[in-house]
Amino acid sequence: MGSLKDYRYHSVEILSEFDKTNNQLKFIRNNHFTNKVIDHRTKSKVTALTNSVIRLRGRIDFIIFDNAKINYKKTNILIINILRISVYGLSFTVDPPTYAVVDSAVELAKKLTNSKGAGFVNAVLRKIVKKLNRSSDWKSKYRKEIEWNSVPTWLYKKWEKEYKETDLKILLNEINKSPYVNLRFSPSEINPNTILDELNKDAIRVEQNEIHNNFLKVKYDLRGLLTSKLFQSGKISLQDPAAGEVINLLNLKNNDIVIDACAGPGTKTLQIAQKLSDTGLVLASDISPKRVMMGERDVKRHKLTNIKWSVKDASKDSFKLVKKILIDVPCSGTGVLARKPDIRWRRKKGDILRFSELQFSILKNMSKYLRKGGEIVYSTCSLEKEENWSVVERFLNFYSNFFIVPAKLDHPKGWINNKGCLETLPHVHGVDGMFAVKLKRKK
Ligand SMILES: C[S@@+](CC[C@H](N)C(=O)[O-])C[C@H]1O[C@@H](n2cnc3c(N)ncnc32)[C@H](O)[C@@H]1O
Repeated sequence: MGSLKDYRYHSVEILSEFDKTNNQLKFIRNNHFTNKVIDHRTKSKVTALTNSVIRLRGRIDFIIFDNAKINYKKTNILIINILRISVYGLSFTVDPPTYAVVDSAVELAKKLTNSKGAGFVNAVLRKIVKKLNRSSDWKSKYRKEIEWNSVPTWLYKKWEKEYKETDLKILLNEINKSPYVNLRFSPSEINPNTILDELNKDAIRVEQNEIHNNFLKVKYDLRGLLTSKLFQSGKISLQDPAAGEVINLLNLKNNDIVIDACAGPGTKTLQIAQKLSDTGLVLASDISPKRVMMGERDVKRHKLTNIKWSVKDASKDSFKLVKKILIDVPCSGTGVLARKPDIRWRRKKGDILRFSELQFSILKNMSKYLRKGGEIVYSTCSLEKEENWSVVERFLNFYSNFFIVPAKLDHPKGWINNKGCLETLPHVHGVDGMFAVKLKRKK
C-alpha cells in the first residue's frame, strides 16, 4: 500500500478520517503517513487529491446528490469518499466523464468495503456519468447554484453583503483553485540561481516570482522540496509573499529584542531571527505546547541561536518589556482558504466574533509590554473586517497613547490601504489575504 497506484486508497482513508474527527486535514494526512512506507511521489499525489476534494467538496456533493440522491447520513463514510474522489475525477479532471474512473472506484470499494458497497458505487457512478454525458454544458447549469461556490452558506451570505457581485465571483474562483506555493530565501545569504540549480538536480522545479525577488514559486514537487538539503539547512522556507511582508513592518535592526507572541509553528519567528542576522533575541511564544515544540524542532534545522521559545498565553500572561512586538493572532483564516482548504468546513458563523474578542484581548494584554516609543505589529490572515480593522479601531478608541504608523509605500503597489495598513486580497493581489498594521506607543 505504498506505491503510486494506491494514492486513491490513501486519499479515501484520509478524507474519511477528516469526516469522523475534528482534526485539521494536514494533521490527519501527516498522521496517516507516519509509520507507513509510502514514496514521496505517492504522498504528493495524495496531498493534491485530498486538498482538491476538500476544496471542491461543496460542488462535488451537490453533483452526487443532484444526480443520485444518496442519503449522506445513512451511507458508509468510505463509500461517500470513494464517490467524492471519483466525481472529482469525472467532473474536474477528465472531459468527457469516463467509465474508466468508475472501474477503478469499484475496485477500491471492493478493497475497502464489500461487494455490496462496490455494487452501490458502480450504480451511483454509472448514473452520474450517463447524466453528465447527456448534457454537454452541465457545468453552466450548476454554476448558478449556491453549492457551486463550495463555501458554507453562512460565509457566502456574509460575503454577498460585503463584496460587489463581480468581485465576489472572482474571489470565489480564486479560493477554489489550487494556489501556488512559494519559498522564501534571503538574497544576502544565497543566490536564487544557486537555489534553482540545486533543486533542479533533485527534479524539483521552481521559478522566479514576479512579485517578489526574495521568493520563488514551487512548480513541483513540494514533498521533495521538504526533504531537500536547502530546506533541511534552513536556507529556504515555505511562505507566501504577503505573509513575508508583515515582518517588514517591524523595521528590524541587528540586536533588536523582539517578542513574537503567537509564534507557533515559527515561520515568521525564523524570518525575524534571520533578518537580525542571528543577533539580538526573538522571544517566541505560543499557547500551544505542541506548536512550541514544532518551533523548537525547527531550530535544529536552521540552527539560529537568537530564538528562545516558551509556552505563554498572550491574552493574559506577563512578558518582558520590549520595543518591538509581533502578534500574528489566531484568526478565522479566510485569507488562506485556497491554501488551507479544510478551514472553510470547520469554521462556524460565531467563530468570527469569538476570534475578534480573543484578538482584542491579546492586543490589549501585549500592548502593556511595549516600551514607550515602541511598536507593535498586529496581523491576521483573515479577510473579515471584524478581525482586522474593527479590532484595531476598538483598541485605538480605548488607548489614546497609541497611533498607527502608516506602512511604507515600498511594499508592492496596492498592498497598503487608505488607513496605512497592509491589506492583501487573494482575488486582487494574487497572494494570500493578509492584514497587518503597525501601532506605536507615544513617548
Ligand atoms: C496565525 S497562527 C501563528 C502563525 C505563526 N506566526 C507563523 O508565522 O508560523 C496563530 C497562533 O496563535 C496561537 N494562539 C492562539 N491563542 C493564543 C493565545 N491566547 N496566546 C498565544 N498564542 C495563541 C495558536 O496556537 C497559533 O499557533
